[in-house]
Amino acid sequence: MATSLRNTGNGGERRVHTRPIRLGIIGCGAIVRAQHLPAIRSAGCFDLVAVADHSPEAASDAVAAWLGIPIERQSSEHRRHPDVHNFLERRWWPDASGLLEASGVEAVLIATPNNTHSTIARACLAEGAHVFCEKPVAFTVEAHDALDRMATEKGLTFQVGLVLRYSAVFRHLRTLVEESSPPLMMMISEFRPFPHMEWRFSRTVSGGVFIEKNCHHFDLFNWMLGDAVRPARVVTFGGQAVLKDQPRDCWCLYEKKRLPASEIPDHAWVLVEYENGVRAQLGLSFFCPWGREFRMSVLSEESKIDVYEMDRLIYVHKAPDKTQRFPPDPTGRAWQDEVGYHEEGAVHSGATQQWVEFADCIRTARRPWCDLTRARESIRLAVAAQRSLDEGRIVEV
Ligand SMILES: NC(=O)c1ccc[n+]([C@@H]2O[C@H](COP(=O)([O-])OP(=O)(O)OC[C@H]3O[C@@H](n4cnc5c(N)ncnc54)[C@H](O)[C@@H]3O)[C@@H](O)[C@H]2O)c1
Repeated sequence: MATSLRNTGNGGERRVHTRPIRLGIIGCGAIVRAQHLPAIRSAGCFDLVAVADHSPEAASDAVAAWLGIPIERQSSEHRRHPDVHNFLERRWWPDASGLLEASGVEAVLIATPNNTHSTIARACLAEGAHVFCEKPVAFTVEAHDALDRMATEKGLTFQVGLVLRYSAVFRHLRTLVEESSPPLMMMISEFRPFPHMEWRFSRTVSGGVFIEKNCHHFDLFNWMLGDAVRPARVVTFGGQAVLKDQPRDCWCLYEKKRLPASEIPDHAWVLVEYENGVRAQLGLSFFCPWGREFRMSVLSEESKIDVYEMDRLIYVHKAPDKTQRFPPDPTGRAWQDEVGYHEEGAVHSGATQQWVEFADCIRTARRPWCDLTRARESIRLAVAAQRSLDEGRIVEV
């Protein structure tokens, strides 16, 4: 198959692929099965050639999902399927280093627990692989910059899984915000049940809830201000209301489960004041088993725009009797046509589009829309929110 060379201008020549890109996945857990594999398949630009996971069960479930073999939760029959068995025998490694040495991958997806991302990402770049790294890439601003320098020097693409940047509903929100008078206030609420991965409750492994979860939301605030306004001050109130320092039974996403002692708050309010005076508020609750919601509002002098992410719905309130609803038709096609693509069911909207973008960036040597600079700015806010909670004071960012 054809491969050509293109000058990147930032690290010499790089190979441009006009055939499926050879992809390896490092960390084959829940998000890979539920979101990435269907999205990678529908993007149609990648060939899965290798997987790495400490757990052979997780690896075989991901391979079965990729091959379209139904996953049997009770019997685990799919793990004995000959195609899964053959794939694993030749193309499974327990960790990233084995995969990088032996598999010949051109690009990797890193979807391991958070505290491993930056080390694995560095190793992948060192081996010349393009990187798609799940958020958070790292727990500090400086670590983002170091990886950015390395990727640039090597002429490699580095994209971050802040998937909502690729969501049709939030792209349309951004367009509506641009068409209105400038935002003055913003609000996001995410009220949901406890997540079911235990490592999320360890601050050492996850980085804490603001870095782990709310980097998505801080990124949305930054984006709605055009990525051009710096946050000035942050204050956080939060704590543990339900899941505390003892293990206990809780309603997780899908079931009642015994969760470990937790080191993270299960609810919080974060207030952010930007340098231009815009004020944003984030509400987070992890102990809300029913009536799950993820909502965002942007208020300006002339409009209030509300997004209901889970329903993929937008309401624009502009004047008496002038409320517009997007999509105006129940299929949603009309307004998805405006952003140029359609979204199928996945954990988050934007899942497929981020893989289309990753392939295009590798092929054309352009920088991804969700790059390390944007990811870094979301972490800058997350770190400040955590510090405010830890120290009980307003933090200058
Ligand atoms: N962008 C999003 O919206 C979104 C949503 C969910 C999760 N995530 C991110 O995706 C990542 C994975 O989350 P998940 O929910 O799938 O977790 P998970 O626990 O289900 O999966 C992690 C997998 O990594 C494996 N693993 C752990 N350490 C490893 C190592 N050093 N090398 C190889 N494999 C290793 C585990 O065995 C497990 O199978 C996290 O960084 C999380 O923050 C992002």
